[in-house]
Amino acid sequence: MVSPSATSPRFFNLDEHAYAAAETRCRTLLARMTLAEKIGQMSQFTSDRDTTGPSIREGYQEDIRAGRVGSIFNAFDAGFTRELQTLAVNESRLGIPLLFGYDVVHGFRTIFPIPLAMASSWHLDNVEAAAHIAAREAAAAGIHWAFAPMVDVSRDARWGRVMEGAGEDPLLSSRMASAQVRGYQGSDPRALDSVAACVKHYVGYGAVEAGRDYNSVDLSERVMRSVHLPSHQAAINAGVASVMTSFNTVDGVPASCNPLLLRQILRDEWHFQGPVVTDYTAIMELIEHGVAADPRDAARQAVNAGVDMDMQDGYFLDHLAELVEADEVSAARIDEATLRILILKDVLGLFEAPYRYCDEAREAATLLAPEHRRKAREIAQQSMVLLENNGLLPLSPAPKRLAVIGELADSQADLLGPWHGNGQVQDACTILQALQNRLSDAEVSYHAGVPIHIHDTEPHTNEIAEAATLAQQADVAVVVVGEKEPMSGEAGSRTDLGLPGQQLALALAVIASGTPTVVVTLSGRPLVLTELAQQPAALLHGWWPGSEGAEALVDLLLGEASPCARLPMSFPRNVGQLPLYYGQLPTGRPVFRENPDPRYSSKYIDSPNTPLYPFGYGLSYTHIDYAQPQLDKTTLAGADDQITLAIELTNTGERDGVEVVQLYLRDPVASISRPVRELIDFQRVEIAAGACQRITFVITAEQLGFIGSDLCWRCEPGQFELHIGAHVEDTQALTFHYEP
Ligand code: BGC
Repeated sequence: MVSPSATSPRFFNLDEHAYAAAETRCRTLLARMTLAEKIGQMSQFTSDRDTTGPSIREGYQEDIRAGRVGSIFNAFDAGFTRELQTLAVNESRLGIPLLFGYDVVHGFRTIFPIPLAMASSWHLDNVEAAAHIAAREAAAAGIHWAFAPMVDVSRDARWGRVMEGAGEDPLLSSRMASAQVRGYQGSDPRALDSVAACVKHYVGYGAVEAGRDYNSVDLSERVMRSVHLPSHQAAINAGVASVMTSFNTVDGVPASCNPLLLRQILRDEWHFQGPVVTDYTAIMELIEHGVAADPRDAARQAVNAGVDMDMQDGYFLDHLAELVEADEVSAARIDEATLRILILKDVLGLFEAPYRYCDEAREAATLLAPEHRRKAREIAQQSMVLLENNGLLPLSPAPKRLAVIGELADSQADLLGPWHGNGQVQDACTILQALQNRLSDAEVSYHAGVPIHIHDTEPHTNEIAEAATLAQQADVAVVVVGEKEPMSGEAGSRTDLGLPGQQLALALAVIASGTPTVVVTLSGRPLVLTELAQQPAALLHGWWPGSEGAEALVDLLLGEASPCARLPMSFPRNVGQLPLYYGQLPTGRPVFRENPDPRYSSKYIDSPNTPLYPFGYGLSYTHIDYAQPQLDKTTLAGADDQITLAIELTNTGERDGVEVVQLYLRDPVASISRPVRELIDFQRVEIAAGACQRITFVITAEQLGFIGSDLCWRCEPGQFELHIGAHVEDTQALTFHYEP
């Protein structure tokens, strides 16, 4: 967890001199601007090139000419952005260049696995590399500003947007957030292979009630600060250039007009200096939330709370001038917001060279560059989680007769996942094609199985029987099942997390054919795989693996690469367990304590409390043995002291392997109830077959701290437990004392 006291750069890692120089330049421009032009800079509209929300404003080109817009989103490619930029530069009175924003969430043209999958790799350098490639491609196609990273912590897999984040854990989410910011922004904002990042959605969106998208959020400020804010703060500390508000309410106040979030925490506590943009029509939604009487009132509340840029509803444009004249919004607030936007443009070098990102030659040379595809394939290999292996995987020697089953095996579109930027379906090879190409000497047969529809109640008896017969005639069957792209992501909440349609029946029938079977699941969220897990089959969760996902999957199936991913979210046994996460509080009647009458403990009468697959879990093709961990001492004496934990790991298998060693903390007695486990550190280590490796973790008081009921950060003395191991339910324990 990031301590709230941490201080570091607050806008693009600029030093004070560079920021001051940009500010001075922009103040000169600000002095020449009319109120209407300032409000124009504070307004952002979508182009008609792509659609990511409910409304498209007519005539955005006219807005550009008239200086009524500071930023356009959903516009990309060097030619189109140049065309729009020309309108701003040549035809608006002051020629202020536009800022082009886009959802570059897991790749621009080369599509990487969805962020939740990348989080499963726990490979922060590669996550950074993916964001950097995405930035390089986007920047070559006219984009200045990525609406990423999405860092919402979520513990409810019903919410479709879990696919965009790093899962349930604040520490993993924070490290993913920093890695992505570093990747998108690089070290020099003017470099042509980087873009400005925008951390989103600030804040609490991952806690929407019942996992229903756009629903309300009710969090105590303590939980918000402990669980949901750290990943945002990590992005700020990494120098993120901007922040996007979330759609939801927090304690009754929508995030887009929330002074606690937008003033107190973001500006006063974190000293963030970049602009805050709303999410899509979020100011308009203040009316639906029931906190604003009309558009004018909504605009007033948002701007006064600290919003600098209005995405898409045009309320700033329509009402801010009148609000300033009526003294309901100060001219100083307008200047503050405008200045932040101008400074962002200045720092990106747009005033000097407004077309520097629109370069067709660079675009052609950059998109889908072979090294980008290679990285996407490597990351996809590292993102797929091996959930079960009955010894079938890897398929070595390769089968002579292979049956491939399932509509998803023959789909290009469903490999990319939502928010695939400018990713093209034709860039991805299907799993079927990849298997056919790689097993050119084998007989590869295919059956689509059953259609994939949420509401499909047809039994599809014939199709299932045909698929099972095909499987019977093969040496090995690979069944690919799961969600199609629109079944997760924004507005993709589900109440049933099983395989949509009759895909479970299909997979079970193939397994029942007696042919050794690998079930590959694709999805944008944890699924309920309880019945499949009991079958004698290998189970590999591929998420949505991106443009190179099919090749990467085949690499793993054939043993040309080894699975090494670990779950960043618990997989439930059933939907009734949700929200489900490892870091829960013990309760007064925990099931794991001796209880005189187990009936009266905190549990279900029809299901275990534990997930089917816990946080941090994942198998590989080798075995890593953990020796007994050792501490160099058992008392931590104060803030500057440290304890070193050492552990030896031995790869006892015959293949090289990767282990994600996870270190959890438990504070058994504190002034408030503390989680039963809290991830405080991890290391991803590569260990050659037969090799032994000693790794160490350093424990400091900072990692023991938490936010108390007075909302203050504290470290309390006492005994602590450390739990180290391969996943949250497979650890060895040690204890030490904190005695400052
Ligand atoms: C999403 C944001 C996205 C925005 C712009 C909204 O619907 O919630 O994540 O950045 O659209 O496309």
